[in-house]
Amino acid sequence: MKKAISILLALCMVLSLCSFALADEGKTVGIAMPTKSLERWNRDGEYLQKQFEEAGYEAKLVYSDNDIEQQNNDIANLIADGVDLLIISAIDGESLTQTLADAKDAGIPVIAYDRLIMNTDAISYYVSFDNYTVGVLQGQFVIDTLGLDLEDTSTTYNIEFTAGDPADNNAGFFFGGAMDTLKPYIDAGILNVPSGKTEFEQVATPAWSTDTALENMQNTLASYYSDGTVLDVALCSNDSTALGVAQAIGSDYAGDNQPLVTGQDGDIANLQNIVDGKQTMTVYKNVSDEAGATLALGKAILAGETPAEDLLDSLGAEASYDTESYDNGTGIIPSYLLVPYVITADNLQMLVDTGLYQWDADNHYLESTAETT
Ligand code: GAL
Repeated sequence: MKKAISILLALCMVLSLCSFALADEGKTVGIAMPTKSLERWNRDGEYLQKQFEEAGYEAKLVYSDNDIEQQNNDIANLIADGVDLLIISAIDGESLTQTLADAKDAGIPVIAYDRLIMNTDAISYYVSFDNYTVGVLQGQFVIDTLGLDLEDTSTTYNIEFTAGDPADNNAGFFFGGAMDTLKPYIDAGILNVPSGKTEFEQVATPAWSTDTALENMQNTLASYYSDGTVLDVALCSNDSTALGVAQAIGSDYAGDNQPLVTGQDGDIANLQNIVDGKQTMTVYKNVSDEAGATLALGKAILAGETPAEDLLDSLGAEASYDTESYDNGTGIIPSYLLVPYVITADNLQMLVDTGLYQWDADNHYLESTAETT
């Protein structure tokens, strides 16, 4: 009798292990990226699709041309296709509520990728970087590079801000981290904003557009710097806007100094500007790691698990697990946040060491090793 029970228990264990192993067989993930026109998303899409396919999943990847209606349609099509998991970087974090209600009705778990998706209870998890820290790193870089000291008000530096897309929930975190870091120096009169534009809404850049950032900075230079006022710092929340600001400085700034220009993402054109001294730093976020963390999370979800802090050890990159900071309007979304870091002309080799960039033939500029950019 005892022998029969032990055989039965062993059989149950084998069957449950088999079902676990087979759980992922034939599973499909739907990956919705915002646009190809902003460089980083080409890399995100490539890494996500490649890593999920190498792990044995079918991966359906769509880009929605920064068109909100198209993204809703694209996600609705993935739901109709019966995907088992949705991974979405929203164009407009407020615009997916109804579409994702359909995902929830269909029992499809959703990972908000890089950008938090608001006002929907369909979101299971959020995977991103600590985006407030991105802004803090930019602000602290300004303080360290200029040697600012709250005790020394003998010198004043002029700074202008360029923030991101108001529809992108990340943009407020980037700007907030930078402004919170620099505000004490503005209040002390050590940093001065000649345009007076210190509110997010005044310096936001719809769609993160390089052309809009260029035009806005040209207008600011014409209005506040044509009398010879020196511009010391142009704090830009990301590289696509920094590209436009650097172009405006090149064409419309009469001063003989090179303003300090910040960015984020490690876009190729901006890394070249960093080599050429037209941009001073970028905050790098390893989106291959972000894709890897999303794969680890997706595997656990598709295996029927409810991962929490325990998943950190298998993300393949340094990260934190946050169950306090990201309320999407329906409640706190458990979040995995990877770590960004500062890149300047002095440590570009760190990007080559990731394997995602390589030096060009002259060992002068960096190129991407990704197939799509
Ligand atoms: C943000 C993203 C940044 C930035 C911007 C433009 O949401 O986190 O990396 O580049 O979008 O794509």
